[in-house]
Amino acid sequence: MTTPINDLHAAPQLSAAPAPGEKERVVLAYSGGLDTSVCIKWLQEEYNLDVIAVVGDLGQEHDGLANVKAKALATGAIGCQVVDMRETFAEQYLTCALAANALYENKYPLVSALSRPLIAKHLVAVAHAYGAKYIAHGCTGKGNDQVRFESSVLMLDPSLQILSPVRDWDLGCRSDEIAWAAAHDVPVKATAEAPYSIDDNLWGRAIECGVLEDPWCEPPADIYTMTVDPAEAPDAPSYVTIDFEGGVPCALNGEKLSFLEIVYALNDIAGGNGFGRIDMVENRLVGVKSRECYEAPAALTLIQAHKALEDLCLERSVLHYKLTIEQAWADQVYNGLWFSPLKEAFDAFLSNTQQCVTGTVKLKLYKGSCTVVGRKSAFSLYDFGLATYDADDAFDHQAAKGFIDIHSLSCKVWAENRLANDARMPSFADVDATNAAYKAVVEEAEGIIDAAESVTA
Ligand code: ARG
Repeated sequence: MTTPINDLHAAPQLSAAPAPGEKERVVLAYSGGLDTSVCIKWLQEEYNLDVIAVVGDLGQEHDGLANVKAKALATGAIGCQVVDMRETFAEQYLTCALAANALYENKYPLVSALSRPLIAKHLVAVAHAYGAKYIAHGCTGKGNDQVRFESSVLMLDPSLQILSPVRDWDLGCRSDEIAWAAAHDVPVKATAEAPYSIDDNLWGRAIECGVLEDPWCEPPADIYTMTVDPAEAPDAPSYVTIDFEGGVPCALNGEKLSFLEIVYALNDIAGGNGFGRIDMVENRLVGVKSRECYEAPAALTLIQAHKALEDLCLERSVLHYKLTIEQAWADQVYNGLWFSPLKEAFDAFLSNTQQCVTGTVKLKLYKGSCTVVGRKSAFSLYDFGLATYDADDAFDHQAAKGFIDIHSLSCKVWAENRLANDARMPSFADVDATNAAYKAVVEEAEGIIDAAESVTA
């Protein structure tokens, strides 16, 4: 699955630091798109720096990484390091995300947020390898990704300085940017302006801008590439089983596979059944609500399966407490604090909870839905004898009475005191109202009876 080290991934042949008289160096997170291509030239011309581009392969769609590398060099970068980050992304980042069942605002599986700290780590490593003082990225000033890149770099090496050309330049709109690019020999593809802003990797795909900026507008069918339209999905369901070992997926339909291979396979299977689309209004760290569309077939399938296994294997208090940690973990990562000590402490807790999350989950994928239809584990805490209503019932029904008496005792004492003070609880208001209405009807009836009796007497 992982591309072997070859020319594409070869380290740039550069000195370990700029020689005396040479320009200072900046390491740029490069995607091959217009913004980061303009960044290369901008950093050279406006900051008088030599640019080393870093391209991360995180499983995103691309027109060939060799082309991306060639473009960086053709635009003037003195070196370009292409790094296959997929295995590490799965093993070190997605495993933690899965342990946390990570969904920001209960919906978004942190696709972009998870990738930034890993890219940042490589930017810092390349800066160290080639004596660069500066790190640059191509994010705008109103998104989350600038925060994630910069916070990560600052936590990994606080002595590095960050440059953010797109945030600083005055190339107001896209046509100004294209004009600047053309005037400065930056290769610009002669394609129509892309209607959406897209960021993707093997954990999913984020789509924003264009018509999606109207939260009332239904997402056009063409925004999706990882998932088929549920209405056009196969008429027969796909069943899959996923084995987990210590919380990490290790087999699909009984076949041993790496986590990375399982993610790729599930993107195909779940996406092919139209499962994995998200349409939400999301709260960015910078205070803006934005309408975001995502597709994350494997991520959502795996989180669902993982949760189902935890339901079976985690002791109740751990499971309940873990829910609050999961939310806090997702907030930390969304907010760019992957390398923070709090997030690290959460990871220690989460990792401890995963020891017995070993077993198998069976799922049914069908026309846009994913349903857990079975789960089993050697560590299952599900006890048939305790759960059944059949003759085999082993639960001590008589013990329930004493349990309830003591469980409710303190509230019972409170209720007695309230009643003694004639201070009834708000929850009794509706009972009082019903009683008053009933009393009025009874009084009226009694009045009628009395009147009738006095007539007949
Ligand atoms: N809103 C998401 C996040 O903050 C996705 C951002 C991805 N960027 C993009 N150009 N679509 O993580």
